[in-house]
Amino acid sequence: MPESLRPVPRHVAIILDGNGRWATGRGLPRTAGHAAGEPALFDVVHGAIALGIEWLTVYVFSTENWSRPEEEVAFLMHFNEDLLLRRRDELNDLGVRVIFMGDRADPRVSDRLRGHIADTEALTARNRTLTLVFAFNYGSRLEIAAAARRLAEKAAAGEIDPAQVDVAALAAHLYLPEMPDPDLVIRSSGEQRISNFLLWQSAYSEFAFPATLWPDFDRHALAACVEDYRRRERRFGGVTGD
Ligand code: IPE
Ligand code: IPE
Ligand code: MG
Repeated sequence: MPESLRPVPRHVAIILDGNGRWATGRGLPRTAGHAAGEPALFDVVHGAIALGIEWLTVYVFSTENWSRPEEEVAFLMHFNEDLLLRRRDELNDLGVRVIFMGDRADPRVSDRLRGHIADTEALTARNRTLTLVFAFNYGSRLEIAAAARRLAEKAAAGEIDPAQVDVAALAAHLYLPEMPDPDLVIRSSGEQRISNFLLWQSAYSEFAFPATLWPDFDRHALAACVEDYRRRERRFGGVTGD
């Protein structure tokens, strides 16, 4: 264990999980758990700003979540749209830059939601206190496959030499090439799996799996994960900590 604490993570990525269990445990419909996750998210945004975290990525809808019951998917789509409308000015006032990462062009995403996403991104584009990335209709395998496809298209068009396709070239074709790799990936609810989230970017991330269900998560739970992270030694394949 290092004697001194490492700096606060620059990028924290969170798999918000446990909304359904939070609700069913109370005899409520699963969708009530999603609604209860909203204040948790905003408390964590405040906590991230207070801690000096620069990037916060939250996994809110995966490419596999379309397989949920139709009414839950419909609720989540409407909920995301409504949340942007109700909260974008507040996020803007906090100095938060909002970016959506994922397949927003999917025809299953409504034009209205696409419009709200674009408006929120434009409204907050110049903010730098915190960059909040919503991983929405996001799947890491789809992202990597899309990057590979774009590289193949460029090679076929003679724009790049296939010999130039290396780690840096692939990383440059991911959805957000400017996003630093997450230093810390947190998954709430006690599940210990990655569920198609940031597979490429989390190659050397630290992981935390707090048992707290997402609606019960807050800035203090975030701070506890960060404190634990700061005591860890990261090696990146070497023999001494960074
Ligand atoms: C996470 O909570 C939110 C989304 C996936 C949208 P879940 O809905 O997965 O909650 P559990 O895992 O069923 O408890
Ligand atoms: C991952 O959670 C996706 C999001 C949190 C948006 P899931 O609840 O969908 O993952 P699995 O199915 O339990 O692995
Ligand atoms: Mg889940």
